[in-house]
Amino acid sequence: MGSVVPLLLLAVLVGFCSGGSDAPRGVAVGFVFDLRATCEPPCEHAGVCIRNNSCFCSRGYEGDTCQYANCYPKCKNGGECLRPGKCRCPPGFGGRFCHKVTCDGGCWNGGECTAVNGVAKCICPSSWTGSRCQHAICPQGCRNGGVCVAPGICSCPDGWLGGACHTAVCSQPCLNGGKCISPNKCRCRPSFSGPRCEERKKSH
Ligand SMILES: *[C@@H]1O[C@H](CO)[C@@H](O)[C@H](O)[C@H]1NC(C)=O
Repeated sequence: MGSVVPLLLLAVLVGFCSGGSDAPRGVAVGFVFDLRATCEPPCEHAGVCIRNNSCFCSRGYEGDTCQYANCYPKCKNGGECLRPGKCRCPPGFGGRFCHKVTCDGGCWNGGECTAVNGVAKCICPSSWTGSRCQHAICPQGCRNGGVCVAPGICSCPDGWLGGACHTAVCSQPCLNGGKCISPNKCRCRPSFSGPRCEERKKSH
């Protein structure tokens, strides 16, 4: 009776081995099964103690006591094998084997690629925005066609100056209290006219 059980078990295990899996096992095929074998610490994850301190691991586990789950292909990019075939990926990586960089094109300007509910997302520093943190933020705004090129810095079109491109430039100054309201355009006080407000209006 005592020899029937191990033989049966051996048949089952051999059946496992010819199942086509290339996963490593605690012990190679052809082992001698010892009914009285003791394994201390014990075999984990349904591993079978086949000789003293030798575990035969069930599929998906490896290690001296079958303590480690294995993932095939292996988890990439520092992913951790949680249970057979299931990787836990570090932030910025995804896919079944953590083989995918999840933030397409990366995150710029110090943004951090993080998986939020499984979706790739760049977390941007406070002065940058956009899907890749590619857009600087100019809190003051860039007016008159100015473009925000760096945090708080507007690049202004010709004819405009100032932190928000809000100051028009008149290459020749407006005279007699006139005000430069857009590039090379003066707004004159009521009694003056001309491109530079240089003419005194005739009173009627
Ligand atoms: C296995 O260990 C037990 C005690 O833990 C010992 O009695 C037995 O002889 C050992 N078997 C082998 C094959 O070494």
